[in-house]
Amino acid sequence: MASLETLEAHYSAQINAASDEASLEAIRLASMGKKGEISLMMRELGKMSPDDRQVMGPALNGLKTRITDALAARKNLLEDEALNARLVSERVDVTLPVAREPQGSLHPVNQVMEELAVIFADMGFAVAEGPDVEDDFHNFTALNFPEGHPARDTHDTFFMEAKDGETPKVLRTHTSPVQIRTMMQGKAPIRIIAPGRVYRCDWDQTHTPMFHQVEGLVIDKETHMGHLKGCLIDFIAAFFETDEVEARFRPHHFPFTEPSAEMDVRYERVGDAVKVGSGDKWMEILGCGMVHPNVIRNCGFDPEVYQGFAFGMGVDRLAMLKYGMPDLRPFFEPDQRWLAHYGFSPLLQASLASGLS
Ligand code: PHE
Repeated sequence: MASLETLEAHYSAQINAASDEASLEAIRLASMGKKGEISLMMRELGKMSPDDRQVMGPALNGLKTRITDALAARKNLLEDEALNARLVSERVDVTLPVAREPQGSLHPVNQVMEELAVIFADMGFAVAEGPDVEDDFHNFTALNFPEGHPARDTHDTFFMEAKDGETPKVLRTHTSPVQIRTMMQGKAPIRIIAPGRVYRCDWDQTHTPMFHQVEGLVIDKETHMGHLKGCLIDFIAAFFETDEVEARFRPHHFPFTEPSAEMDVRYERVGDAVKVGSGDKWMEILGCGMVHPNVIRNCGFDPEVYQGFAFGMGVDRLAMLKYGMPDLRPFFEPDQRWLAHYGFSPLLQASLASGLS
């Protein structure tokens, strides 16, 4: 049997030469694993005379401790060396030129949608979504448009080809079907906005066959017309970044609200953009009203218990007014020059604290 000194020298040399954790583990197993050299010697202790055992026992234990310590020390050293090597190789050259400015820009519609989400999130509204291809039920029937009612025609609806025996699907003509989808989930109170694309067969300076709307819906047990007015006036103030909003609610008709109104705000033109709060002109901004009891009932709520308001407005038009674009059509023509002129930096997020635009 090798002398303990020889054994210790042998393992120390191996440990000092080990260059990774795997080799260290192999040395540990060879010396102190179940069948390791030192473990086998420990097992022999039982057969020794008490005198021999008293010498060999502590000697073997001492050897074990020293090899264990040596293994740990070598492991630490290897880890330090690896870290130092990484620090040298992963150095960042801070003298390199900074990254180039991003080339793309955010479309004004995206910018305005983000501004809307920020403003309404601050008032406690969540964002909801629905499909662009809708069925007749969600787009019309549940919204209290009677079957065959002329109001359905005023929307210049695009109909999809009907599958056998089914009512044809439509491209949604407004975001109001998201009211239905949200209420039919059956949970109240509700406070959502639903931005998205809508479609109507129309094409001129201020109409395109696809445009964007944002819907708003609040349902609970006590929300009334006063809340509707306050909420929308606060919204206009935040969106147009002014404290002076003068609004007027003109009676109107929508099948899904009662009473219904259109909201106008006082404004004057400054160049192509508008200044809200002063001047002697009024512009229509949105449609709104108290959700019709029939709609609340169609969605499974009791209109004797639940009530609330809804509103809907054109996002593209808001962008035109705020940022002074005279024509809607270029919004949807991929013209790089238009985007370069009217687009927004993709890195500047709209926020109420740092400013919306
Ligand atoms: N959906 C209506 C439209 O497209 C707008 C609206 C929404 C009016 C909600 C009242 C309430 O004209």
